[in-house]
Amino acid sequence: MSSITVEGLTKRFGETVALDDVSFEVPEGEFVIVLGVSGSGKSTLLRCMNGLETPTEGEIRIGDTPVDEPRPDIAMIFQQHNIIEQMNAYSNALTGSLNRNTFLDSLFQRQSEEDKLQALDALDTVGLLDEAQQNAQQMSGGQQQRVGIARALVQDPTILLADEPVASLDPGSSQQVMGYLRTAAADRGLTAVISLHQVNLARKFGERFIGLRDGKKVFDGYRDEFDMGVIDEIYGDIDTEGMFAPDGEADDGPDPSSESGDDASSKRGVSSGGMGQ
Ligand SMILES: Nc1ncnc2c1ncn2[C@@H]1O[C@H](COP(=O)(O)OP(=O)(O)OP(=O)(O)O)[C@@H](O)[C@H]1O
Ligand SMILES: [Mg+2]
Repeated sequence: MSSITVEGLTKRFGETVALDDVSFEVPEGEFVIVLGVSGSGKSTLLRCMNGLETPTEGEIRIGDTPVDEPRPDIAMIFQQHNIIEQMNAYSNALTGSLNRNTFLDSLFQRQSEEDKLQALDALDTVGLLDEAQQNAQQMSGGQQQRVGIARALVQDPTILLADEPVASLDPGSSQQVMGYLRTAAADRGLTAVISLHQVNLARKFGERFIGLRDGKKVFDGYRDEFDMGVIDEIYGDIDTEGMFAPDGEADDGPDPSSESGDDASSKRGVSSGGMGQ
């Protein structure tokens, strides 16, 4: 069972209360988006869920097992994808099998046939099979993040966590990466929790939404309840003009499955997803 239970989660850093008594459950296979302004506790929540931070109070469980350290069945994708730029896409993806191989085996690429096939399969899932031999440093930001997703898939997780995976990409690449993330999770039946700060992207790809504000859960619901009132609740006084459009169709980037819009221009570092910044 790879359902996630977050129960009474509080995390303090000295005087700072990063998370304040947060509870929710995610059934197996659900795709959840966590929203909140900077400092609302998104990264802390994901880091606790991944066992990278220890809760001050409360507990996180996968099925019936408490999470108290990083584990191979939980994969995490970061904003700075931490892929190795000198290696090609295939070798980067293959590093996802590190937990199943010794360091030396990994170094000399002595992984099993199965691991190697998994790396190719994961690259196929993120639309990069033809670029398997391409050096990561020659790839666009969006492509590099897709390699990061492939590596997470090779880890063979049941839970996929991503902390602002598209924050440094332009709107077109952001949509594309979110599309691949969503497809990968659906195809493999993964339970996914993704933090984002772009409301339109969230609406376009999210199924369920959790809103954090000052470390507290202020919203937890599905698409039909995720309206302007909820956005105000999550974002407070911040100018939300342009962050929200009916049916999430305000984005003018390409369709998630299309290849266009994912060239070197995605390295510009524009983080808007139609936020009107
Ligand atoms: N290691 C740490 N030490 C001290 N304070 C921390 C630490 N990590 C997070 N915090 C504080 O906890 C609060 C929540 O931070 P967190 O990084 O979880 O927010 P966030 O929603 O991810 O923000 P952003 O959108 O900027 O990434 C902030 O006040 C932050 O300063
Ligand atoms: Mg963060």
